[in-house]
Amino acid sequence: MGLSCEWMDGYVFDVPYIADFFFYQTPDFLNFCLLLNGFEHPPLKNFKFLELGSGMGFNLNCMAALYPNGEFYGIDFNPEHICFSNRIKDDADLKNVSFYELSFEEFLKERKEEFPKFDYIISHGVFSFVSDENKNFIVEIIKNKLKQGGVCYISYNDMCGCFFSVPIQRLLLDYSKLFPDLGSLAKINMGKNLIKKMKDAGCMYFNLPIMERLFKKFEIDRLNYLAHEYLNETWNPLFFTDVLSFMKGAKVKYVCQADPIWYFEDLFLTDKQLDFLKGRRSIVLKEIIKDYMVGMAFRKDLYIKGGQPLAKGELIEKIKNIKVVLRSPIRQEKFKVSPPYGNKNINIDTELIKKLIEVLNDNSCTIGEMMALSGFQSMELPNILRVIAVLLHSRVIDVVLEAEDHNMESCVRLNKIVAKEARFKNSLKFFCIPESKSGIFVDIIKRLVYDALVNEGLKDMDSIISYVIKYTDEREGVVLTKEEIEREVSKCIEEDVVQWERLGIIDIKL
Ligand SMILES: C[S@@+](CC[C@H](N)C(=O)[O-])C[C@H]1O[C@@H](n2cnc3c(N)ncnc32)[C@H](O)[C@@H]1O
Repeated sequence: MGLSCEWMDGYVFDVPYIADFFFYQTPDFLNFCLLLNGFEHPPLKNFKFLELGSGMGFNLNCMAALYPNGEFYGIDFNPEHICFSNRIKDDADLKNVSFYELSFEEFLKERKEEFPKFDYIISHGVFSFVSDENKNFIVEIIKNKLKQGGVCYISYNDMCGCFFSVPIQRLLLDYSKLFPDLGSLAKINMGKNLIKKMKDAGCMYFNLPIMERLFKKFEIDRLNYLAHEYLNETWNPLFFTDVLSFMKGAKVKYVCQADPIWYFEDLFLTDKQLDFLKGRRSIVLKEIIKDYMVGMAFRKDLYIKGGQPLAKGELIEKIKNIKVVLRSPIRQEKFKVSPPYGNKNINIDTELIKKLIEVLNDNSCTIGEMMALSGFQSMELPNILRVIAVLLHSRVIDVVLEAEDHNMESCVRLNKIVAKEARFKNSLKFFCIPESKSGIFVDIIKRLVYDALVNEGLKDMDSIISYVIKYTDEREGVVLTKEEIEREVSKCIEEDVVQWERLGIIDIKL
């Protein structure tokens, strides 16, 4: 229903948000980015981690399973989000994560003393969704609750790549207000229809070439996500320097984006662009220019509080000890580098990358070990890191700074819940990977195969196939034929299950 209430502060609340996992928010990944920039990082064991605006909590639940030695806290003012988060946490018996139904203002003004100080504070996709008053509450929380040496991750829609969405958002919001009794999903559907009809009627704005990006987004993004972005009274894309100004109040310093590719400018800028940037010393100006150069749509900024630079020798030693793990088996001939940001083809030796994948297909290795492999021996460390950045960006590998001793049980418990949810719902789509301390997207058929194997204990191919067919049959929108399902199931058992066992995703004996 389109009811409104005061606590929501103009924010969409009648439709729950999506429940995804974000690999670029794990402590290992964030710390890898800090190391690339030469900084000491917060601990990877016995740390405290806070998410502001934790949404459906799945991200935090995954991290709690991946890091049983860390303590995770999520706050969000939407009771439906907290209820969902707690259900998954309880079902997976995760003891090291807690969710609190609190607004940022309530946390700050009424409850702040109950909470410890944090090594990590993240807020994903919230800053551009909330009012300036709420942004200031977030900044105050970071100022009060981030430890010295702690890291803070703030992501937001960037005006350089979202400017064309501003009039669209306004149109959808104004149109939705004409139907106060409808729910947000109905409103967003009607809005999409209106835009389509306006385009067909020759509306100039919707026929601008840049609008292709918007129509693609409308096709790909789930309705829940679109409702949160487009029907929100306070959604507003930001410039890098807007966020920088807010963050000054938190006594933190900008380090980099949580994307190793951003560090290797030659991987996404043209020679002309690189020439233009050369010699510019101001980090702020370089960030501003790069945002314009690539038409940046979404930034993931990392800030540190009193961060310490590492000595060169210490840094090299730490980097060489980082483990590189292949996320899923890859046939070399199928390997493709995904081009980052602009449209430039990546200037990188793909033959060398294929060789590395061949090695990683058998076993994970450290960066130090990688440097001893044939083909890599003559490469300098920065060039090896360049290859790592490309593989991370292409979602082929994960990096592990410190191996976790006992995370398999908690990960398997959560994976079992994800698989069980797949029988009737389509909300949870990621499995935890204990070996790489990360998560992986898994399609519905594969989640049902996991469910059949682990939760139901089915063993022979025929009964697994019948099980998968039974549940996919009942699901709306699944268009696979019986033969296609049979093929997918056999492929999953022959390839994915083997890899799941290798990475600790599944334990068939449990
Ligand atoms: C766009 S969602 C992002 C959720 C989550 N970080 C994710 O990426 O999946 C923004 C979240 O912030 C929460 N939120 C918005 N305003 C808030 C406030 N003033 N206090 C607490 N939570 C708030 C919303 O309920 C929502 O869950």
